[in-house]
Amino acid sequence: MKNTFGQSLQTTIFGESHGPFIGVVLDGLAPGIEVNDDFIKERLSLRRPNGAISTKRVEADEYQIVSGVFNNKTTGTPLCILIPNTNTKSADYDKTGRVARPGHADYTAMCKYHGFEDYRGGGHFSGRITAAIVAGGAIAQSALSKKGIEIGSHIYKLSDITDTSFDEIDNNELVKEISVLNKKEFAVIDDVKSEKMMQAILDAAKDADSVGGVLETAITGLPAGVGEPWFDSVESVLSHVLFSVPGIKGVQFGAGFDKVCERGSSFNDAFRNEDGKVVTATNNNGGVNGGITNGMPIIIKCAVKPTPSIYKEQKSINLNTLDNSDIAIEGRHDPAIIHRARVVVDSVCALAVYDMLAARFGTDYFVN
Ligand SMILES: Cc1cc2nc3c(=O)[nH]c(=O)nc-3n(C[C@H](O)[C@H](O)[C@H](O)COP(=O)(O)O)c2cc1C
Repeated sequence: MKNTFGQSLQTTIFGESHGPFIGVVLDGLAPGIEVNDDFIKERLSLRRPNGAISTKRVEADEYQIVSGVFNNKTTGTPLCILIPNTNTKSADYDKTGRVARPGHADYTAMCKYHGFEDYRGGGHFSGRITAAIVAGGAIAQSALSKKGIEIGSHIYKLSDITDTSFDEIDNNELVKEISVLNKKEFAVIDDVKSEKMMQAILDAAKDADSVGGVLETAITGLPAGVGEPWFDSVESVLSHVLFSVPGIKGVQFGAGFDKVCERGSSFNDAFRNEDGKVVTATNNNGGVNGGITNGMPIIIKCAVKPTPSIYKEQKSINLNTLDNSDIAIEGRHDPAIIHRARVVVDSVCALAVYDMLAARFGTDYFVN
């Protein structure tokens, strides 16, 4: 029953989609980190559903920080954030509650929790819980920004539409691009592609269906030498948190699956000395060699599946009898997860990177 991640900074999430609160506890934070309400609210608003491309369940996310903060700074003791659930319609789930939604966690939750699980709205498996991750992630992100580390994601691919890749952007321009993306509600670099992607989501919704895609994330400003060689390699730690985000089905570092069938001579990233700084001419390894950062941006691609709850009739099983049964899903659902998951991906990366830095340099690395 593990809902805690991290070693130096431990992040615990809790709550159910239709329970009174969801929340996060961050234990092991440095004292003195600025807790900026405007920034937390901005990050939460980027995750919040907006318009026909998202679920109609809109929550105000009026969070309360109930511990670990004094005079707008972290104290270093456990910081707990509570976010109330106010817009729930549990009756939708009484109708379909005992037929497993294909692609969702209803069946596996029953196998693990023996029917005691709160299945309303997906319970503990709901995308709703990610609001707590975003609130906690914002605190880690503030601390990282002070150290010159920035994180940003965009929708690289949705359906058959592909955005400009981070690879096509000069490394010196990457931080600027990230700050532009972090202000966009629908994070796509190319505005023409952005319109097309939004239309593809609307088209899927019109067909009572859903659509998925690929997110691309950049983490810039990390010093070289962070990470461990084997089980806690940077790739292992980041994959661990990324696969915890509901709906993520693949993670790639650098050119990964796209280029591994090429020859070493085209995959290797040549080292160069640029004005006394070691850089690589290409970044096919995504900023990591031997599990350890090499100082180049960490570049990650995440496969985000189409939302499992679709309104088309599907085949499934009744969870009480295990008999075959059809399901016509009710409730309010996102026709795509990807544009909302993007800020969740940034947030888990922030928590994991914070943890790795605190493990490498000590908790007080982040004291302001
Ligand atoms: C921000 C966000 C929103 C989501 N919204 C929905 C939704 O409206 N309906 C749904 O069925 N799944 C939604 N999901 C995905 C499910 O939570 C997820 O597919 C499910 O828990 C099964 O986990 P898995 O896909 O990782 O196997 C969402 C995920 C995220 C990250």
